[in-house]
Amino acid sequence: MHALTRADWDVTMPPPALGTVELVLHAAAWTDVDGAESEPQEAAAVNVGGTQHAAELGAPLVTFSTDYVFDGTKRAPYVESDTPNPASVYGRTKLLGEAAAGENAWIVRTSWLFGWTSTNFVRTMLRLGAERDEVGVVDDQRGSPTYVGHLADAVHDLLELPRGIWHVAAQGDCTWADFAEAIFEEAGLACRVRRIATAELGRPAPRPAYSVLRSERPGAPVLPHWREGLRACLERL
Ligand SMILES: NC(=O)c1ccc[n+]([C@@H]2O[C@H](COP(=O)([O-])OP(=O)(O)OC[C@H]3O[C@@H](n4cnc5c(N)ncnc54)[C@H](OP(=O)(O)O)[C@@H]3O)[C@@H](O)[C@H]2O)c1
Repeated sequence: MHALTRADWDVTMPPPALGTVELVLHAAAWTDVDGAESEPQEAAAVNVGGTQHAAELGAPLVTFSTDYVFDGTKRAPYVESDTPNPASVYGRTKLLGEAAAGENAWIVRTSWLFGWTSTNFVRTMLRLGAERDEVGVVDDQRGSPTYVGHLADAVHDLLELPRGIWHVAAQGDCTWADFAEAIFEEAGLACRVRRIATAELGRPAPRPAYSVLRSERPGAPVLPHWREGLRACLERL
């Protein structure tokens, strides 16, 4: 198995010689949603060009896409046959990346990822919750926070299923403010959550107000509830 970092392969460049490859798990991406608004070419080079290069390795490909391919105007879970309509540059580059992945790929649309490494909402809230009495968190975006450990198990199961687009996200849904409260509760932190509107943050990129993902495809993996994912994540932190 080769676990490649950006230092090993900048995916905006053609792939290196890796010999025979049985399966590619392509998670590299431009994920700075706000930054993509002012640097669309750079974001596209990674999210579209990079995915095309991953496909050029010629092996079956698992590539990760996002709930941000939808505009968030629906009020029932998005399924695979819903028409994407991304509102942000990031969402548009990820949608084009899906096309670049080609026929030989499992395209895993997932949402609101968190885990025990790197920067993510859970780790940020744990830090802020220990430093402050109160944090302002948006309460007008609804989605399904998905634990990467549960996503990894589901991707393993997907490899037995046909290729194409799959919606793979935790059961249940909540707002970021609900999620922050749950994090403080589970972690035993006394920090309060002040519920704010997205507009108050004045971010450059629009976010979908509603982006719950569910699968309509037969045999789709069913993930545990996001709160179970949160508990599993906290155990590893
Ligand atoms: N986070 C979410 O909530 C979420 C939701 C839905 C879908 N996704 C998708 O899930 C995948 C993983 O997301 P994530 O949250 O784990 O992202 P992340 O934490 O930002 O990690 C992305 C990785 O890609 C690497 N990378 C960026 N540009 C690269 C380049 N030109 N060449 C090689 N590597 C490069 C980054 O390296 P550096 O560390 O060196 O920058 C980083 O290791 C992405 O496809 C993302 O679009 C994420």
